[in-house]
Amino acid sequence: MIWGKSFIFLFQICGTLEKHFQGQFPLTQNVTVVEGGTANLTCRVDQNDNTSLQWSNPAQQTLYFDDKKALRDNRIELVRASWHELSISVSDVSLSDEGQYTCSLFTMPVKTSKAFLTVLGVPEKPQISGFISPVIEGERMQLTCKTSGSKPAADIRWFKNDKEIKDVKYLKEEDANRRTFTVSSTLDFRVDRSDDGAVVSCRVDHESLNSTPQIAMQVLEIHYTPSVKIIPSSSWPEEGQLIVLTCESKGKPLPEPVLWTKDGGELPDPERMVVNGRDLTISFLNKTDNGTYRCEATNPIGQNSTEYVLIVHDPNALLGQTGPDHAVIGGIVAVVVFVTLCSIILLGRYLARHKGTYLTNEAKGAEDAPDADTAIINAEGSQVNAEEKKEYFI
Ligand SMILES: *[C@@H]1O[C@H](CO)[C@@H](O)[C@H](O)[C@H]1NC(C)=O
Ligand SMILES: *[C@@H]1O[C@H](CO)[C@@H](O)[C@H](O)[C@H]1NC(C)=O
Ligand SMILES: *[C@@H]1O[C@H](CO)[C@@H](O)[C@H](O)[C@H]1NC(C)=O
Ligand SMILES: *[C@@H]1O[C@H](CO)[C@@H](O)[C@H](O)[C@H]1NC(C)=O
Ligand SMILES: *[C@@H]1O[C@H](CO)[C@@H](O)[C@H](O)[C@H]1NC(C)=O
Ligand SMILES: *[C@@H]1O[C@H](CO)[C@@H](O)[C@H](O)[C@H]1NC(C)=O
Repeated sequence: MIWGKSFIFLFQICGTLEKHFQGQFPLTQNVTVVEGGTANLTCRVDQNDNTSLQWSNPAQQTLYFDDKKALRDNRIELVRASWHELSISVSDVSLSDEGQYTCSLFTMPVKTSKAFLTVLGVPEKPQISGFISPVIEGERMQLTCKTSGSKPAADIRWFKNDKEIKDVKYLKEEDANRRTFTVSSTLDFRVDRSDDGAVVSCRVDHESLNSTPQIAMQVLEIHYTPSVKIIPSSSWPEEGQLIVLTCESKGKPLPEPVLWTKDGGELPDPERMVVNGRDLTISFLNKTDNGTYRCEATNPIGQNSTEYVLIVHDPNALLGQTGPDHAVIGGIVAVVVFVTLCSIILLGRYLARHKGTYLTNEAKGAEDAPDADTAIINAEGSQVNAEEKKEYFI
């Protein structure tokens, strides 16, 4: 029994020792840092019997041996040195610092752990080229957005008024010396008037930018021919009234002033026909004002015009009119007269018969039958009369 217990105890010690030596190995982690930043390289040893630790760079040069600096590079500093940890920092990291760093624990044999230092290249502020302002409607515009220095290659996206434009050419070129990329994207589109004032932006996203994209933008200026539209103040202009014809013209540059003409010539009566900006005001309308009025708008891009046919109506036209309207009025009058006449006749006859019934009642059954006329005109009426009479008979 005692021997058995001792054996178990020994066994436990062995287990602890085994664990102890198992834990004696270096542990490192890969590090990613943005160009210009500081990278911390940490090497840990959980169980260490005072064995030395060392960091070396991708070129196999020793950086630190325990707390002793080995390479002359003042960007490299000691963060912490103990039997359990050797941590160093590399500040102002450049792309050439990228590579595999090694932490060595000088046991027999030497145990190592590798840490890969990844350096991200920050994309430069994007530049838009090919921008022309103003552009005439219908022409093509080719905008190229370019950014250098990204590693890995940055992503470029285009937006027009915050709406993404898809299907754009994307080009990526590797800069052999610096291991970075120059990326560009070209937007090729035909402009129209709706693009005037639109904001076109090129957005560069990259993991080094901390989700704050780099943006370049341009405001488009599109020139286009005028469009014109005449809006009359009244849809039924009558003689003696006033009408205002407004010529709404849009265009860029703005067409100003508009030109008003009548039937291909100048406005015939400048006293009554006054042009004020876009508005043509014709006062005291006269039938002689009938005709085609034209509004013409011109800007440096081109010209456009529209017409309005003015018909001045006679305010007394309704009374003087002949034809269907007259017939309808005549018809209505005839119907009214007819209905009135009929009503008078019927009323007259009813009153006459009512008087007759009264007389019959006075006679108290002397004469049973009412006059023949009443019976023929109103059967229902005669029934009522008959009932009245029955009552009197009982
Ligand atoms: C690197 O270590 C230093 C010292 O411990 C610390 O101040 C700094 O924040 C660390 N940097 C990173 C990127 O972890
Ligand atoms: C490790 O070194 C410390 C002093 O730095 C010493 O006190 C300790 O006994 C040493 N341990 C071993 C296992 O050598
Ligand atoms: C560290 O980086 C290297 C090289 O990129 C890779 O092969 C390895 O799997 C990475 N290790 C870890 C633990 O991420
Ligand atoms: C003239 O304007 C109309 C609309 O008002 C437009 O549809 C037309 O395209 C314009 N013509 C030209 C030559 O711009
Ligand atoms: C219309 O013009 C004619 C000739 O200019 C004139 O004789 C007439 O009085 C005018 N009518 C009205 C309503 O102004
Ligand atoms: C003007 O137009 C109205 C309606 O069509 C017509 O009655 C009138 O005779 C026209 N006047 C002239 C002078 O053309």
